[in-house]
Amino acid sequence: MSQLIDGRAIAQQIHTETAARVAALKARGIQPGLVFIRVGEDPASQVYVGMKEKKSAELGFRSTTLVLPVSTTEAELLARIDALNADPSWHGILVQAPLPSHIRSATVYTRVAPEKDVDGFHPLNVGKLLLGDSDGFVPCTPGGVHELLIRSGVRTEGAEVVILGRGNIVGKPMASILMQKGRTANSTVTIVHSGSRDAAAHCRRADILIAAMGVPEFVKASMVKPGATVIDVGVNRIPAPGTPTGTRLVGDVAFEEVKAVAGFITPNPGGVGPMTIAMLLANTTRAAELASR
Ligand code: GUN
Repeated sequence: MSQLIDGRAIAQQIHTETAARVAALKARGIQPGLVFIRVGEDPASQVYVGMKEKKSAELGFRSTTLVLPVSTTEAELLARIDALNADPSWHGILVQAPLPSHIRSATVYTRVAPEKDVDGFHPLNVGKLLLGDSDGFVPCTPGGVHELLIRSGVRTEGAEVVILGRGNIVGKPMASILMQKGRTANSTVTIVHSGSRDAAAHCRRADILIAAMGVPEFVKASMVKPGATVIDVGVNRIPAPGTPTGTRLVGDVAFEEVKAVAGFITPNPGGVGPMTIAMLLANTTRAAELASR
């Protein structure tokens, strides 16, 4: 039987630390400002941005959401970003992904000023992370997984880490974090993706298995080494006939069977999700601290 990694409790620790930093900024007349941009009405993005904005308000941030119609052109979105980049009262700018297909994400994320890129998506911040330069911003979800491991006492040094998924938001930055030199990293990292042969064989080698590929309940007990740490980043909506909405959310890990084998495991919900918000608000606080030096 495994030990649960309580993401809600660890996120709360981080919020408490952030609140103290926000109070110190306020004593100097500075209020961290975080602006969200949502393009179109993707239902999941509505929920995520709503949760992020609510928590920023609770922590005393100035925050707002620009909701733009799905017909917004790339040029219009870039012009909005330019205006926010030029406004010193906004310390962080978050453009919620996914964007409509007529807008090039890479162009948009390159336009956000690197010092306001609290998502860590700008190529400069991506490059700094890969180079081991701690000056940049680390993307919130993999940064949150890293904090979960550290604060749960999971040893990463020398560990075989297998990451399922090579996305720009989780898989690639997660690998960049854990391959670095240092006491809280130093892992041997493998990324398994849709072109990999025998994903299960890789998974069975893992001391730390991080599932972030977006396939409902892909990780089964037979793919997990006894005692391994299993982190579930997945959020998948699947049909659930007979429920009020006709759907339900599941992760990338078959939790009930895997928890019987794993050493540590994140519940889902209540594992990685709360950490993403905690890291976003910590990053934004840092942006405000750096801007006011
Ligand atoms: N969509 C899913 N996760 C994220 C995230 O961390 N940041 C942004 N901007 N969009 C997302």
